Amino acid sequence: MHNLYNYLEKAKKDGVAIGHFNISNVEALWAIFEAARDLKQPVIIGVSEGERKFIGVRQAASLVQSIRNEFDYPIFMNADHTHDVEGVKECIDAGFDSVMIDGSKLSFDENVAMTKEVVDHANYIAEEENRTILVEAELGYIGSSSALLDEIPEGAGEDKTTPEIAQKFVDETGVDIFAPSVGNIHGVVKDGNPHIDAELVGNIANVSNCHLVLHGGSGITDNDLRAGIKAGISIVHVNTEIRKAFRDGLEESLERNDSVAPYKYMDIPRQKVYDVVYNKIKLFAGLE
Ligand code: G3H
Ligand code: ZN
Repeated sequence: MHNLYNYLEKAKKDGVAIGHFNISNVEALWAIFEAARDLKQPVIIGVSEGERKFIGVRQAASLVQSIRNEFDYPIFMNADHTHDVEGVKECIDAGFDSVMIDGSKLSFDENVAMTKEVVDHANYIAEEENRTILVEAELGYIGSSSALLDEIPEGAGEDKTTPEIAQKFVDETGVDIFAPSVGNIHGVVKDGNPHIDAELVGNIANVSNCHLVLHGGSGITDNDLRAGIKAGISIVHVNTEIRKAFRDGLEESLERNDSVAPYKYMDIPRQKVYDVVYNKIKLFAGLE
């Protein structure tokens, strides 16, 4: 039975990161799985609140589980950016491997309280049902949309996470995975995304007794990604670059193909998503 915790421990030991890719449809799911399988790497599928409302919470979980079972493959499911405890509980009930409770816009104390409630619930269900459920939380506002941006959203990335506050947050909540603000922001900025502060990542990694995740993986230079992973990032989230690849592919496909059969014009967007994911996984896993 594949267990996300074990794969994270191995990634940390090997100094590499596991890719987390968001989906809104089954075409992207197949593309991500095929890229991961071709590189023989574990992979995490993420669905945020909007994405899972579109696919269906239980349907998204079933799709990923069916691939995991049919191919005996380490593909995992994360409830990305969930803003309330009820949403987390629904995803845990649906069988997700990990949940992210996003209190990054709340005060430190409110964020701790909500995260702690989620950790307690996840631990209780994990024990009752004899399964692993990892909990992730975030500190510091890094913007909230996986989109093409003209400029950095107001306030995003300004309150970088200090090692002291990270340590306090991780100790008080008991999270398994922690998302700091280290120069990363959500989305791709027209004139270039900010740099990742790899030294800060390393200092946070030294004092945080858990795995570190880098959100906002799109638009970051390959060198910054390598440095961040080397400094202690175990998971990298990517969404905007996949969304753009899918859309570009769809536009190209509709121009070239006048078929009304979706499986005939969804091939190019699927291939474009595959290409983005393949290159990211190669970099994250140190296979270049
Ligand atoms: O949780 C999702 C990621 O943080 C996506 O960020 O759209 O900048 O790749 P991104
Ligand atoms: Zn994110």
